Amino acid sequence: MAGTHSALRVLDVSKSFGGVRAIRNVSLEIAAGERISVIGTNGAGKSTLFNAVAGVFAVTSGTIELFGETVTKLSTATRAKRGLARTFQTSRLFEQLTAADNVFIALGGNEYTGGLLRLARRNPQRWASVERLLDRVGLEGRGRQQVADLSHGEQRQLELAMALALQPKLLMLDEPAAGFSPAERGKLITLLRELPQEITLLLIEHDMDIALAVASRVIVMHDGEKILEGTPDQIRNSERVREIYLGGSIDHAA
Ligand SMILES: Nc1ncnc2c1ncn2[C@@H]1O[C@H](COP(=O)(O)OP(=O)(O)O)[C@@H](O)[C@H]1O
Ligand SMILES: [Mg+2]
Repeated sequence: MAGTHSALRVLDVSKSFGGVRAIRNVSLEIAAGERISVIGTNGAGKSTLFNAVAGVFAVTSGTIELFGETVTKLSTATRAKRGLARTFQTSRLFEQLTAADNVFIALGGNEYTGGLLRLARRNPQRWASVERLLDRVGLEGRGRQQVADLSHGEQRQLELAMALALQPKLLMLDEPAAGFSPAERGKLITLLRELPQEITLLLIEHDMDIALAVASRVIVMHDGEKILEGTPDQIRNSERVREIYLGGSIDHAA
């Protein structure tokens, strides 16, 4: 690793919300191009960790480095400019617009105004990019659909297209498969495996099948702490992980 920077380093990060210590002394490091899943049952601190990295709030203590630069006190926008793109656990799509318009807005960044959107319709290059991105996430031919008419799974695919539009170096996805059918889960796994190798992926996922299928390394959170880190096989065979998932979540006990 000499001379190269990690994509992400989280050093001893804690975050409290009032009296709730949502994450405690979490440290992790992700090399460029690595595929990491963070798993854990509801309330484990996954989203808090994710938001701390994205810069949604100030952390209580600790340091966050992106591509070798300390970003602990930098804004979400600055972190995005450094190459971080993320999706949200709950959708942030423009429901009244078409799928293609949403991707276009992501491509145009803050340049977007209604006028620019119309102008860009006549820009074949921009629209080729929109189509390419829609194809890439499995939404070929769906560009003209209004977001409200897309299935839940398609909306999550669209969010992925919008994140990819930013040409991220570090892509962070928070429970992208929440509410997916088995078929949609299978599609998402394929899609994530086919991401360009240079994109570093940090996947937060409650669903173990997806987390283990996509990652080369898995981090387990529990009660705000990182309790385990290992290969998918190690995690699959971990008695501790099995206990946590059986004890902590009814849907996984089924
Ligand atoms: N904005 C917030 N205000 C207060 N408590 C929060 C907030 N966000 C998260 N928490 C608490 O922090 C803990 C971890 O939550 P979260 O990071 O959302 O877990 P996960 O994503 O693993 O389900 C939970 O106890 C949750 O209630
Ligand atoms: Mg969460």
